[in-house]
Amino acid sequence: MKVFDVWKIREDFPILKKTMNGKPLIYFDSATTTQKPHMVIEAMKRFYEEEYSSVYRANYEIAARATEMYSITREKVQRFINARDEEEIVFTRGTTEAINLVAYSFGQAFIQEGDEIIISEMEHHSNIVPWQLFCEKHGAIIRCIPINAQGELCLDIFEELLNERTKLVSIAHIANVMGTINPIHTVIRKAHEYGAKVMIDGAQAVSHLLIDVQDCDADFYAFSGHKMYGPTGVGVLYGKKELLEAMPPFMGGGDMIDEVFIDHATFQKPPLRFEAGTPSVVEVIGLSAAIDYIESIGRKAMDMWQNRLLKHATEQLLDIKGIQMIGTAAQKAPILSFIMEGIHPLDLGTILGLKGIAIRTGHLCAQPTLRHFGVDTLARIALDIFNTHEEIDICMHAIKEAAVLFKPEMSY
Ligand SMILES: Cc1ncc(COP(=O)(O)O)c(C=O)c1O
Repeated sequence: MKVFDVWKIREDFPILKKTMNGKPLIYFDSATTTQKPHMVIEAMKRFYEEEYSSVYRANYEIAARATEMYSITREKVQRFINARDEEEIVFTRGTTEAINLVAYSFGQAFIQEGDEIIISEMEHHSNIVPWQLFCEKHGAIIRCIPINAQGELCLDIFEELLNERTKLVSIAHIANVMGTINPIHTVIRKAHEYGAKVMIDGAQAVSHLLIDVQDCDADFYAFSGHKMYGPTGVGVLYGKKELLEAMPPFMGGGDMIDEVFIDHATFQKPPLRFEAGTPSVVEVIGLSAAIDYIESIGRKAMDMWQNRLLKHATEQLLDIKGIQMIGTAAQKAPILSFIMEGIHPLDLGTILGLKGIAIRTGHLCAQPTLRHFGVDTLARIALDIFNTHEEIDICMHAIKEAAVLFKPEMSY
């Protein structure tokens, strides 16, 4: 395993040298979006300055080079998630677009009126609303796996929901509110017993877990570049080749066609069939650099550090009076959501922000999860490889100070 030196890692992230409200920036919002190492920023800048052009369109030198770099990134993503074939890698604008693509295109080809789609109570809105839109139009039905008090999937109920009408199961690998790591191998195996396909929303998992789409046997897997140290505007949809080949286009436009006549068109094979329009070329180059960055640090080393931070932050947070943690699953990513007696999460977020500490507050795009816990807003600390124990201690001290501010009778 590679040696992990957090102080060296911190040097990679230029933004960590900045201040917020006059205080050193403590960034605890990586579950929303990660900060970018200079390798990613530089790779995009270099591409803009030296090689920029579009891809698949022209044959002058820099266009050929751009197309080559774009294609190399597709192969790199294939290796990164251990897909069988590079044609199984579709570049999208992010996880949201990838899920909408599957809902629209797989849905149109394989899901009919009266069929069922299973999601769970812990999903991000991006993995709920696309299915609702599809079901409203096509008469399919959404079923939901409930979660328990710890924020884990109720697998016994999942088994009861599965039946021969189940066509698709779509769940998060890691839940964005609670950090729960779902047992996707089990979910996929059980769904496949009923002939249902499985889509995994890997938006949160991609920066925390080793992803092996062949090992887990996912039919679709989606993630976003901006949650794995890469840029916004690029994401990936992995789909098994035979499924993508059987799916109709999602959007029409340049590049996804084979031939176009005035009254009809024929289409490319996947993945290009699903990449209509000028793609996010520079962002794909940034994604490539982000994968290099993750691989240069090593998954194991990243994981160990983040688990140490999670343990420290959990102990510290639970030590504060009046804290209720939302999500206490046995298998958990470094995400801590909570509410605090006497302080509205938005007030807490504002106070911490004034002290240079960036945390996420609100419904976190997961209102059904929050409803399960009887809250409509909460605070979330999401830890990353560049965070330190000292930063956690500063944050916990600031939370205690905020508690005293709102409830002067509190003492710590
Ligand atoms: C679990 C999960 N799914 C989907 C998304 C949507 O990702 P994006 O906005 O990058 O498309 C997010 C973003 O926070 C997420 O956490």
